[in-house]
Amino acid sequence: MERDTESVDHRGGILWLTGLSGAGKSTLATLLDRRLSAAGWRTAVLDGDELRRNLCRDLSYSPADRAENIRRAGCVAHLFAGARMVAIAAFISPYQADRDLIRALNPAAFHEIHIATALAECERRDPKGLYRRARDGLIADFTGISAPYEPPLRPELRVETEGRTPESCVEELAAYAETAFRAPVK
Ligand code: ADX
Repeated sequence: MERDTESVDHRGGILWLTGLSGAGKSTLATLLDRRLSAAGWRTAVLDGDELRRNLCRDLSYSPADRAENIRRAGCVAHLFAGARMVAIAAFISPYQADRDLIRALNPAAFHEIHIATALAECERRDPKGLYRRARDGLIADFTGISAPYEPPLRPELRVETEGRTPESCVEELAAYAETAFRAPVK
């Protein structure tokens, strides 16, 4: 098939975006995917909201079910990485232990990126009205309100989103992708 752009020589891997609901993970994943694929990269987005409608639709938000959600998503992401694609994964993935387990499948391919938006800002944005409903007691185990979020201990990258445009955050992510997947391995 003819392509608009020359394909780019890059390694496979995973950009694992973790952060609170409303932090900007899905928005940034979508924009980064567009930007890299327009430049000839082989990319795929895996998104928590979407996987929970299909592959993971049997799972709740209990700690055990979140662990299983992240295990499944992580396995799929590693399959993409093995096929020399860059998987851009957007999951709250609130537990460090769950993130560590998927890193351990192939540490060299896994890049943990904290989309670091403070709870107060996520609650102010509240794009899906979920924080308001959680505060009203209508959603159990809601991350940041009635369930924990463990910020990454040693993320490869931390992206601050407050007071910045999504485009500026995507610049930072794309620059990171260049060094992670295109620079010669040290
Ligand atoms: S994770 O914790 O298992 O990684 P995931 O990223 O798949 O979560 O899904 C999070 C999305 O599910 C949120 O963006 C929100 O739209 C929805 N959601 C519904 N209930 C909850 C809840 N109790 N806690 C967090 N997110 C929830």
